[in-house]
Amino acid sequence: MIDRIEQIRAEAERAIGAATTLAALEELRVRHLGRKAELPNLLRGVAELPPEQRGAVGRAANEARQALEARIAARGAELEAAELRERLERDRADVTLPGSPAAPIGHLHLLTATRREIEDVFCGLGFEVHEGPEVELATYNFDALNHDPAHPARARTDTFYVSDDVLLRTHTSPMQVRMMQQHPPPIAHIYPGRVYRRDSDATHTPQFHQVEGLAVDVDITLADLKGTLLAFARSIFGDERNVRLRPHFFPFTEPSVEVDVSCFACRGTGAMADGSRCRLCKGTGWIEILGAGMVDPNVFAYVREHGYDPEQVQGFAFGMGIERIAMLRHGIPDLRLFYDNDARFLRQFG
Ligand code: PHE
Repeated sequence: MIDRIEQIRAEAERAIGAATTLAALEELRVRHLGRKAELPNLLRGVAELPPEQRGAVGRAANEARQALEARIAARGAELEAAELRERLERDRADVTLPGSPAAPIGHLHLLTATRREIEDVFCGLGFEVHEGPEVELATYNFDALNHDPAHPARARTDTFYVSDDVLLRTHTSPMQVRMMQQHPPPIAHIYPGRVYRRDSDATHTPQFHQVEGLAVDVDITLADLKGTLLAFARSIFGDERNVRLRPHFFPFTEPSVEVDVSCFACRGTGAMADGSRCRLCKGTGWIEILGAGMVDPNVFAYVREHGYDPEQVQGFAFGMGIERIAMLRHGIPDLRLFYDNDARFLRQFG
């Protein structure tokens, strides 16, 4: 009897050691220790043995069962660890790979990117950015800005009117007045945004974008304007650029100027390396980029009760077209390309 027990034990131990999967091991457990297996049956029959055999057989069978249970548990742990190792090996994830989706889709429109670049330059110079309404009172768009009642821009042929005294702003300059009503001096602001004019050709669209600038204090001069715009021109068009001011007229600045930047195609010489005339600046060496001037005392008078006594304060203002800046800088020949939304055009500026 004891021999049989040892035989079962040896056989089972060999089989357990050779099991290669947890499923096979479970099968062995059922075969050797399950309810119908031989060893447990032997144990159950111990009570019927002659008393002198019971002790030895019982002990041997119990030991065999415990030994097999322990073997199965140990082999099970081994197989589990091996299976885990294998699964980890198979599932290995490279955490250094880029996430999915990997690449960002799309990019800013060139006009948005240009606007932000301009904003960055002026923020760096200490200007705040403010936005205002595109549907504007004629009062802010024209009257407060010292426009003569007969000024041609007021004409219905040039301006989109919503009603007799409400219109789509034709420039960002009305923000000068709105902001001076809200902020006492000193102020240094820029006002980016959309503007509207009844115009349509290769260099005019009915809607376009401007950035207005306004700085007011007790001692702001034309030299501050020139220095500010020189810093702007160099940031956008290159460190070697210069600016020049030419006399001009705007109703709301006095004196008024047009500002030119030295041509970046011919380095201001007006001629290309081969001696031909520079086409960008038409041989002049200068490119017009914006309008500006010293705030007209009549404009300050309009906001006098908000802290802008024309005898006390002075300041400069400027206004530029964002499309124009982007066209010059990137050699874009037709304004309408910005709005056609042809991806082949837009993708060049990603
Ligand atoms: N508002 C003017 C325009 O649209 C530009 C400008 C702004 C001129 C501020 C002088 C001062 O043409």
